[in-house]
Amino acid sequence: MDVKFTVLQRGFELHKDEYEEAALRALRSGWYVLGNELESFEKEFSSYIGMNYGIGVNSGQDALILAVRALGIGAGDEVITQSNAYIASVLGITENGATPVFVEPDKYFGMDPEKLEAAITPKTKAILPVHLYGHICDMSRIKAIADKHGIPVIEDCAQCHGSNQNGKKAGSFSTISCFSFYPTKPLGAFGDAGICLTNDPELNEKLRMLRFYGSRKKYVSEITGINTRMDEMQAALLSVGLKYIDEEKKIRQHIAEKYLKGITNPLIKLPETREDTEHVYHIFGILCEKRDELISFLADKGVQVGIHYPIPPHLSPCYDYLGLNKGDFPVAEYYADHEVSLPIYAGMPDEEVDAVIEAINSFE
Ligand SMILES: Cc1ncc(COP(=O)(O)O)c(C=O)c1O
Repeated sequence: MDVKFTVLQRGFELHKDEYEEAALRALRSGWYVLGNELESFEKEFSSYIGMNYGIGVNSGQDALILAVRALGIGAGDEVITQSNAYIASVLGITENGATPVFVEPDKYFGMDPEKLEAAITPKTKAILPVHLYGHICDMSRIKAIADKHGIPVIEDCAQCHGSNQNGKKAGSFSTISCFSFYPTKPLGAFGDAGICLTNDPELNEKLRMLRFYGSRKKYVSEITGINTRMDEMQAALLSVGLKYIDEEKKIRQHIAEKYLKGITNPLIKLPETREDTEHVYHIFGILCEKRDELISFLADKGVQVGIHYPIPPHLSPCYDYLGLNKGDFPVAEYYADHEVSLPIYAGMPDEEVDAVIEAINSFE
């Protein structure tokens, strides 16, 4: 059986009529940027997460760039993030001229709080944990360290919509949290979109200006901003998706449960979940010592998988200038060399999940 890593069409089909109705509403409104659809979605999403303000932007990448900029961070400043972060998390720092400082991940793929304090210097201006794969970093310990040093936290929630830790949702632990709505995400748009959330009225105001050429009022640029506004069409479609976010999370958790119970191959290390944290399984990441053989074995059986991510940020060519080398972050490098992401998405049929399990269990 052919099993694709993801089939976006199936997610659309789940709520086709409502998506089509929302798209037509946006098209027929005659108002396509910064209108009622965005205003409603910003309110709905921020209240779903438990934050006061939402500022819709063009992508998760832009949300991260603006979050760092809104905190006044730039050249000469340091921002701490994870050594296994996605490149966009790090670009959010370096696009502002600041320097990323990496902390290794723990066994849940999140920022290791044990290693955080040692990375703090007088230049540290923010801590940027990345809730990778859909599992929240250990926020009570990370926040305690950040608060002790008076350093703001920016959460990268691009993979973690709707997860919670001790009853609080991802995106509600920090000064500014950043989400991506890239189509594959737990809440996905039909194009690029992202959002910043904050409880601080001044940061809300500043982020709104930064996304709109630095203006509060059209043609009056008070600060140097950019143009990154979530459009009305994406906002209208995301309002539909938001209604089903918890239902779709349960579908992914059901698939994950099947993988966790069904995969018994001793060559595979399954993902673990902290007791106080819900995993929303944007990515079901397994580890395997014989990764390349596993991937080609699965491909022969028709099963398509992914790798998140094959090159850790410190070894990415764009960061040669940081002077970091192979061996500097062995945990992140181990994950980069051994992780395999299995297909998991709302709309994936159980027979395909069973086919993945059978294929993996027959790998030797
Ligand atoms: C952890 C993480 N951060 C940031 C981003 C960037 O989001 P976008 O693709 O919307 O720019 C992504 C998207 O893949 C991501 O996974």
